[in-house]
Amino acid sequence: MPDARLSVRGLGLRYPNGTHALRGVDLEVRAGELLIVLGGNGCGKTTLLRCVTRALAPTTGEVWLGGQNLASLNGEQLRRARQALALIGQHAALVRRRSVIANVACGALARHKTIWTNLGGLPSSELPGALTCLGQVGLSDLAERRAGNLSGGQAQRVAIARALLQHPLVLLADEPVASLDPEAANEIMRLLRRLAHDQGLAVLCVLHQVDLAFAYADRVVGMRDGQVAFDRQRAHLAMDDVQSLYTARAA
Ligand SMILES: Nc1ncnc2c1ncn2[C@@H]1O[C@H](COP(=O)(O)OP(=O)(O)O)[C@@H](O)[C@H]1O
Ligand SMILES: [Mg+2]
Repeated sequence: MPDARLSVRGLGLRYPNGTHALRGVDLEVRAGELLIVLGGNGCGKTTLLRCVTRALAPTTGEVWLGGQNLASLNGEQLRRARQALALIGQHAALVRRRSVIANVACGALARHKTIWTNLGGLPSSELPGALTCLGQVGLSDLAERRAGNLSGGQAQRVAIARALLQHPLVLLADEPVASLDPEAANEIMRLLRRLAHDQGLAVLCVLHQVDLAFAYADRVVGMRDGQVAFDRQRAHLAMDDVQSLYTARAA
């Protein structure tokens, strides 16, 4: 079995107000795998993703990306390592008045620290790559369209194309279909699965929709109270496992 692309070991996070949001989380995501994380409100899913990207520094534990422990890196080394992680959220967060292709090109900005990018310009050398990424999400035809005129599902696909231009090894998604209708949601899930299976990305996707987890996941991790309640191949996942995440814990 290949080594995990992303490996989280004993991750703990206590917020300054005392909330103990993560209590020793272990999980792995392999290249070519779509891992779906399920769990009720407040169980720590978003905190987990924020610790993985190091938007938050975990209180305890380690995050390994390939062979590197992110906790041991600082400054430029950490910035480079983080480029291998791309995050998409519930909302696409596009610049509405700019074109679709300009929004996708923003995914390359971390590679360009010049005055042009600071002024909102775009590195023209990245445009062919941006078009390729747009093709990967099936939206080549909309390159010149104003981003503000897209449907919710199209906007989320553009956000994924923007993430792909970052050339990530790991794609993290925090409830990426929460504000989409079922048809668009299924399309995004098919796309995430294809990026894992066909392009070898390691995809970690947090979801609320149990049916989508059963339909698309290779593996499902259930979280409860800041801990991993189960970690199963989808074929071995039972409805009882999932229901236990959403029922009150017995005293
Ligand atoms: N910035 C914060 N400060 C303090 N507590 C927080 C903060 N963000 C989230 N929490 C708390 O941490 C726990 C986990 O939150 P979160 O990771 O957002 O859960 P989920 O994404 O699974 O809904 C919850 O109890 C939440 O209220
Ligand atoms: Mg959340």
